[in-house]
Amino acid sequence: MIIIMKDNYGRDITYLRVSVTKRCNLNCIYCGKDFCAKKEHEMSADEIYKAVKAFANLGINKVRFTGGEPLVRDDICNIIEKVSAIHGISAISLTTNGVLLKNYAHSLKRAGLHSVNISLDTLERETYKNITGADALDSVIEGIQAAQDAGLHPIKINAVLMKDINSDEAGKLISIAQDNEIDVRFIELMPFSENGNDQEKIITGNSLLQRFPELTPLPEKNSTAVYYSRDGWKGRIGFIDPISHKFCSECSRIRLLSDGKVKPCLGYDTAYDIIPCLNDEQQLKEQIEKIIKSKPASHSFDAGLNPAYGLNRTGG
Ligand code: 5AD
Repeated sequence: MIIIMKDNYGRDITYLRVSVTKRCNLNCIYCGKDFCAKKEHEMSADEIYKAVKAFANLGINKVRFTGGEPLVRDDICNIIEKVSAIHGISAISLTTNGVLLKNYAHSLKRAGLHSVNISLDTLERETYKNITGADALDSVIEGIQAAQDAGLHPIKINAVLMKDINSDEAGKLISIAQDNEIDVRFIELMPFSENGNDQEKIITGNSLLQRFPELTPLPEKNSTAVYYSRDGWKGRIGFIDPISHKFCSECSRIRLLSDGKVKPCLGYDTAYDIIPCLNDEQQLKEQIEKIIKSKPASHSFDAGLNPAYGLNRTGG
């Protein structure tokens, strides 16, 4: 029988985010300036399998693959296939920038992937280039189409709005949810020392809601997002406000990084290696338990305590 692990604050830890690589094929301004194109040590598919299995034995039932960009790993389908066979794992999703999704969507679905989150901050080609450093907007749009065709569900778009960069595109992004069964979610810009993000650029969820009073709240809520929609629309509009509405008290997450370190909270740089105990089930279990128990009560972005590393390393 699987027992769900609780951390020291009584939170059930059921959601594992696995960064399979730090490499990325984009170089987004809000991510990390230490853009990583070269291969550093990455856990093998087997090592990821062993680690996730140990987490599943402690109550993890949902896994999200992230990066860097997870689709730059050419064995990503193999990783997903292995993990989908683990007893106790009932939901597998992936966060991608969508650039390579067109080539992968069907194989990912066959491998056992259920759902996908796609990062897309703009529908303007020039703005896309400015934000990501690549002329790849068309590939992302094709990727979203491919995800729909492959039957990945739900499909969510993650957008980070920034003043004077893409904040004027909120309306256009919102209207994607009119005719498509796609959730469009706005994530508040988080500061990381590494990307030198200045919080002047943040667009809060509340300021957006004031601009779009026609959005009506929906009763459903998960731990991170609150959702809105409009009559007759197929998709929902979500707001993820880690800065203005901390949701740490409902956090169920733990993060496994591509080098085999486990990070208890996105808001701190603390991480613990599990590679040395990967082949000893009991030791691995004890190490994971210890890490979960060390999870802090909340991030401290509001106290000006910014972690050094951006989401290029941890995948959000
Ligand atoms: N602040 C907020 N969101 C970010 N993302 C990446 N960096 C930041 C940041 N500094 C988003 C990406 C991706 C999601 C996992 O996090 O757009 O969709």
